[in-house]
Amino acid sequence: MSEPSADAPQDDMITRSTTDAEILLSCQNVTKEFSVAGSKITAVDDVSLEFPESSVLAVVGESGSGKSTLARMLLRLMPVTSGTITYRGQDVTHLRGGDLREYWTDVQAVFQDPFSSFNQFFTVGSLLRRGLALAKVPKDEADALIEECLGYVDLRPKEVLHKFPHQMSGGQRQRVMVARALMMRPKVLLADEATSMLDATLRVNVLNVLHDLKNDLGLTVLFITHDIGQACYLADRVAVMERGKVVERGTTEEVIFSPQGDYTRRLLSDVPDLRGSLKP
Ligand SMILES: Nc1ncnc2c1ncn2[C@@H]1O[C@H](COP(=O)(O)OP(=O)(O)OP(=O)(O)O)[C@@H](O)[C@H]1O
Ligand SMILES: [Mg+2]
Repeated sequence: MSEPSADAPQDDMITRSTTDAEILLSCQNVTKEFSVAGSKITAVDDVSLEFPESSVLAVVGESGSGKSTLARMLLRLMPVTSGTITYRGQDVTHLRGGDLREYWTDVQAVFQDPFSSFNQFFTVGSLLRRGLALAKVPKDEADALIEECLGYVDLRPKEVLHKFPHQMSGGQRQRVMVARALMMRPKVLLADEATSMLDATLRVNVLNVLHDLKNDLGLTVLFITHDIGQACYLADRVAVMERGKVVERGTTEEVIFSPQGDYTRRLLSDVPDLRGSLKP
């Protein structure tokens, strides 16, 4: 039997998450250390965050602040050095096999560089159909679902299904990846700089799509960006990361109108007309 004392606070957190249905995903005291050339980097340092169901949480921070590392741990693509990840009240930190695959259906991700997510020998149509076949979606439903999800990102099937990755623009590739994630009908969508490569109009379009999906489907969105303007446009709550730590957190209004830290104020000063962009 292990010593119970160190686990006690986590057990308490898990119990609370079970009874408090609105927290879908959370992490408690998550840390990630890397060894690089003999020295230790703490990329994520004791981060605890909660993602309530049907809400958008933005994680904002400059390059290298640990956002993607945190995302990879939440997605269970990278092991934690320490800490706990909880989904629907269950400790998923060390989930394996079929349970982990089920988690990966519920928690979908779209990353910064869509080109690396594609197999260059597949057309978009075969990529999307394969994904649905693996998820055992019947063929007759698949085409309708593909059309529906491409519609969310403003692509017409005729426009992209026959194309190979290199025959599309970066923006189109990214929107295909968003559509692919949505096809799994996820509960959580983790978007890591997913809109960075889109031009301004398409970016607002995708942000609005994510906002609508939250409202219409109850999607929980973790929106990771270096751009506090986009974060505040979309998110209900914002967490600011600096050198691996969460240095500020609050509702979007709190972060915009009464930032606590200099780092947040500096990020905000880059976006002078932010207050006017707040959704009503
Ligand atoms: N696999 C790895 N091995 C070693 N160090 C890593 C690894 N992945 C990330 N790091 C380091 O961890 C820190 C955080 O990196 P991370 O990619 O999480 O930052 P980020 O906030 O996503 O940055 P960006 O906005 O540029 O995407 C950086 O110092 C980075 O160099
Ligand atoms: Mg990153």
